[in-house]
Amino acid sequence: MSDDFDVLVVGDYCLDLIFTGLTSLPELGKEVVARAFEQTPGGAYNTAVALHRLGVRVAWAADFGSDDFSQFVLARARGEGLEEGFFVHHDRPLRFVTVSASLPRDRAFLAYYDPTPAVPAGVRALVTTRARTLYIPGLYAGPLLGAALLMVRARRMQVVMDGNSYESARLSMPRVRRAVSAVDVLMPNADEACRLTGEVDLLRALGRLAEQTPCVVVKDGAGGAYAAEAGEMAYAPALPVTPVDTTGAGDAFDAGFLAARLEGKPLAECLSWGNVVGGLSTLAAGGTGRTVTRADIDAWLP
Ligand SMILES: Nc1ncnc2c1ncn2[C@@H]1O[C@H](COP(=O)(O)OP(=O)(O)O)[C@@H](O)[C@H]1O
Ligand SMILES: [Mg+2]
Repeated sequence: MSDDFDVLVVGDYCLDLIFTGLTSLPELGKEVVARAFEQTPGGAYNTAVALHRLGVRVAWAADFGSDDFSQFVLARARGEGLEEGFFVHHDRPLRFVTVSASLPRDRAFLAYYDPTPAVPAGVRALVTTRARTLYIPGLYAGPLLGAALLMVRARRMQVVMDGNSYESARLSMPRVRRAVSAVDVLMPNADEACRLTGEVDLLRALGRLAEQTPCVVVKDGAGGAYAAEAGEMAYAPALPVTPVDTTGAGDAFDAGFLAARLEGKPLAECLSWGNVVGGLSTLAAGGTGRTVTRADIDAWLP
């Protein structure tokens, strides 16, 4: 059994079609013409690649199909030099595509996802691999979580879960509470934290989540990021940047935060690393359009 990795990232790729430079969001019966357009890999790719660029030993377990979208993302992943041992190739289309209408402060999505394999690549990887951390790129409270947690606990892996979700997950739902209580680090954005808890105030939402999860990080866009762990609260301001596109900023943030945490940095410094990687990612379309390295961290942080 291999234990050569810091982070095992499980989760599907996504192909992001990003329209930027819009004057308004699309409406029924109207055409909105974007000033710029980008086709970029997204989804779990964002965090896997951002971690890899920071020098973290990352394994990304992902399924790819016979379709053009899969092949495009696969080619990019290879170009980045990601470990390929956890890629599973399927003889059918696996199209995970998101159209993003991106305004400077937020964006609207239209998505299509082909049915996923019964046993996803992430589950296969968990059977054979040990890493220090399992990273789940969205709020997952589905049927595979229980088995995954058993394997993870047996191997003393930390579990970090992003809060990405478009469903109506609420902390009051037993399966959601179970998932949130089972992870070591939960990383929602401000909207997700408020929606989960039913709170309107970000800090109250953070407090409520911290009753369930040992370490909670709430990302607040240009407002920076907050965290609570073991009774300690931390805050770090966002970079003073003018974003081009914020798609994938949260995924990039997670990579920065995790890279610092794996080095045992204090909570506030982990947030600062997240803000550098997340903030710089907004300067280009997609989550990885701009490469962020350790040199960027050193340049931005005193
Ligand atoms: N407008 C911005 N200016 C500076 N940093 C930003 C901006 N938008 C996002 N970021 C950085 O990216 C992180 C994640 O962005 P956020 O929008 O909160 O998450 P998500 O992408 O999950 O919605 C923020 O905490 C911040 O560090
Ligand atoms: Mg997010």
